[in-house]
Amino acid sequence: MRKHSLIISSLLAVWIVLACKDSAASVERPSAVSASELPAEDSGPALLRQPYLQSVGQTSAIVAFRTGESCTPLVRYGQGTNVSQTATANEAGWRHAVQLTDLTPGQTYSYVVEACGSVTGVRQFRTATPATATSLTFTAMGDFGTGDETQQGVLSRLAQPGNAGELLLTLGDNAYSKGTEQEFQDRMFTPMAAVLRQVPLFPSLGNHEYGTDQGQPYLDNFYLPANNSEHSERYYSFDWGPVHFVALDSSCAIGRASPDRCTLEAQKRWVEQDLAASQRPWKVVFFHHPSWSSGKHGSELTMRNEFGPLFEQHGVDLVLTGHDHNYERTQPMWGGDVAPAGTRGITYVVVGSGGAKLRRFPEEAPSWTAYRNNTDTGYLEVAVNGGTLTAKFYNPNGEVKDSFTLTKTLPASAGRLEASPAPALETPPGPVDDPAHPPAWLHFEKPLPPASPESMEDDDEPSP
Ligand SMILES: [Fe+2]
Repeated sequence: MRKHSLIISSLLAVWIVLACKDSAASVERPSAVSASELPAEDSGPALLRQPYLQSVGQTSAIVAFRTGESCTPLVRYGQGTNVSQTATANEAGWRHAVQLTDLTPGQTYSYVVEACGSVTGVRQFRTATPATATSLTFTAMGDFGTGDETQQGVLSRLAQPGNAGELLLTLGDNAYSKGTEQEFQDRMFTPMAAVLRQVPLFPSLGNHEYGTDQGQPYLDNFYLPANNSEHSERYYSFDWGPVHFVALDSSCAIGRASPDRCTLEAQKRWVEQDLAASQRPWKVVFFHHPSWSSGKHGSELTMRNEFGPLFEQHGVDLVLTGHDHNYERTQPMWGGDVAPAGTRGITYVVVGSGGAKLRRFPEEAPSWTAYRNNTDTGYLEVAVNGGTLTAKFYNPNGEVKDSFTLTKTLPASAGRLEASPAPALETPPGPVDDPAHPPAWLHFEKPLPPASPESMEDDDEPSP
């Protein structure tokens, strides 16, 4: 680490000297500290948890990570390959979420984490594009938090540069089997490190996360927008270029949360206002329990009946879910049935194929199913370009097992939406460590084995 820090310090010193000379003597200005001059490999002791990108918006981003000792780390960062700016953690501790501010929308940023003697290699991510952007590629998958070889197969393709798109949505069951601190570490953050350090993650809560204190470790591990009157990170929305995204907590919606933490009514009130207020040309909603599914669990009627009418009324185009361990896409749906030919409908997709053991379909495919697959794991890639949305379901070999296209005539205002950057995403501060007491998760004796198929089974859900 010392060598690494010395390199950075020396480069900064050279830049400062040359920059001063520049102002005095008009010599050619060097381009600050360039990422290409910095190591790509980590040095020093390994971070307990590699960096992961949270609440990335147009003008701000959070770089989160954990350290094995208590310290006050800093992040060097900058646009392009320049890392001459610094942001320092607010508190000393073991878990860190350093916010980068005053970023420029739709740009590539490089960053390096320096923490307790550890220095990461140079990593990069892109900020959210503004409302004037007309294209976006993102990815989504659910039911992947296993820590096993099946998960690794999907991740090995997703982690290749460019394959995960500009951002990744997760559709719940992020960490089997109960969403504990150690399960998040060993079955999500460690296996996904290569993806999460470069692709902003926007997760949603699965029923398995509810297995520990109604999802509290999930809430402690993620730093999410909380743009609702409850100031809850359980459900939220954000914009990225032409798409308005909404994450819901379907476990709360079906009655698994205590009322002081989350209620169906508050969530519905918020989602209605949120969807109505959005001017983005495309609207994508994602959550765990599927409104339409012919998999083992079948359709979650509370999600269908309580939210379907709101989705229809407020222009939702695509609904992405998980829970059933398979892939399934509906016909365009409307009013509880297949939309009549030539009329508008909403496509619902189950992508519960991210790594958990795939399951048999209990029955023949219903008439509303357009395509289903329980033999391939994989993830969904969604590319929006103007009035066309094209989605592809990729298996780990890179084969496209399903693809579909949605088209729409963009409203006259599309492309003429505000060009000025949106404010930073509202993200509540994360948990703060007590300097006198190292947290319990520092002392796990050994890594967990992969989740067993039995531990991926689900408890009975409350009846609607
Ligand atoms: Fe589930």
